[in-house]
Amino acid sequence: MTPLRRRPARLVTVPLAVAALLTAADPALAAGPVGTPGVGDPYFPLAGNGGYHVDHYDLTLRYDPDSRRLDGKAVLTARATQRLTRFDLDLHGLKVTGLTVDRARAAHRRDGQELVVTPPRALDKGRRFRVTVTYAGTPGPVTDPDGSLDGWIPTDDGAFVAAEPQGAMTWFPANNHPTDKSAYDFALTVPEGRTAVANGVLLGRRTAHGRTTFRWRQTEPMAAYLATATIGRFEVEQYTTRDGTEVYNAVDPREATAAAPVLKRLPSVLEWGSALFGRYPYRAAGAIVDRAPQAGYALETQTRPVYDRAPDLSTLVHESAHQWFGDSVSLTSWKEIWLNEGLATYTEWLYAEQHGGDSAQRAFDALYDTPADDDLWAFPPGDPGSGAHLFGTPVYARGAMALHALRTAVGDRAFVRVLRDWARTHRHGNGTTAQFERLAERVTGRELSALLRTWLYARGKPNHP
Ligand code: ARG
Ligand code: ZN
Repeated sequence: MTPLRRRPARLVTVPLAVAALLTAADPALAAGPVGTPGVGDPYFPLAGNGGYHVDHYDLTLRYDPDSRRLDGKAVLTARATQRLTRFDLDLHGLKVTGLTVDRARAAHRRDGQELVVTPPRALDKGRRFRVTVTYAGTPGPVTDPDGSLDGWIPTDDGAFVAAEPQGAMTWFPANNHPTDKSAYDFALTVPEGRTAVANGVLLGRRTAHGRTTFRWRQTEPMAAYLATATIGRFEVEQYTTRDGTEVYNAVDPREATAAAPVLKRLPSVLEWGSALFGRYPYRAAGAIVDRAPQAGYALETQTRPVYDRAPDLSTLVHESAHQWFGDSVSLTSWKEIWLNEGLATYTEWLYAEQHGGDSAQRAFDALYDTPADDDLWAFPPGDPGSGAHLFGTPVYARGAMALHALRTAVGDRAFVRVLRDWARTHRHGNGTTAQFERLAERVTGRELSALLRTWLYARGKPNHP
């Protein structure tokens, strides 16, 4: 019998052969460095793109609610983070009618949600460049792994635009991942009588030839999924709060009566949040209250959440909390969605506790009472398993329970310091669960990994509350 012999030479030649095949099949690879089609998100591998950062999006859109046709021009000002012979944008559906890089026509092709761009000359690392994409079509939402609709969702009088986690690419070409945050300008043209609402401040509106253009500006950095361009017949209310925040509310008249008493509380909710978490992160605020049963959820679109119906007060508090947690401090990976939803849910508990409602302890106890086979314990919030569970009960409720367990362990003062420090340290940036844990340990001087491991990562109902 011949003993098994190792053949290291063969192990080396296989990858070389594969590499040779790849370069032969794809001239761009042979030509040099290529931006990856995703940023490496484990749940959404094609979300975002490698090799560049977008500083600014300039979106000029015209929408006709009757035909549902969208005509768009997107100008992206970006910076190469590596040498690029080719890079991707994310775009779902729609037809690209023109594409330039620094005013030169650039070769491009579609590959699923990837819009693959080959500029005429390679872009050096550090180089600022401008991509202009003209496009058109009939946008519609994508269906998420959990079956929900996400993106441009047509309604009976316009569109409800809520794009978490994937849907930004249904209405503009984007670097569609929360790790890339950018400033935005919008010019939205709709038939006279409709209102188009985006993020940030309203720069102006102009009506001519039966159409109105709304110009919006979002100066603070924003993740693509938090952009909106919601269109409908809306009643508009505009005012400035005593601390100078510019509020713009747009409300579907069919929801106006139910929405009014809740929207009235917005300034006081934002003041309460500012006192607790630190200054509200944005110049602008507001709400878009639509009638969008097709969506069935609200979203914390930056500065101005969108609601599929008149919200109740706890929903308003939840979406307001996201302005600090999710919008200003953004995720690094969708897997860590508990950082958004756990903190927003816990803020609802804190708000109730401080406004004559149930204590957070009571909310925690009621949840802890549920039997071990309840959905609440189906998976750990720190590791939902896949994109299908991003918005599952454990992410919200057990995520909030994890924060309550932390509060109980370290005391109220230290707990609030953790939240404030988190909001301040990562303001207009990104954060991870590991960074949250390190920050909590530093701020409180306590060893917290066992507690957080139990509440965030242990399978099934934890034994000790
Ligand atoms: N972040 C939103 C909220 O908690 C929920 C978004 C749900 N998105 C979805 N595609 N199901 O208010
Ligand atoms: Zn939420």
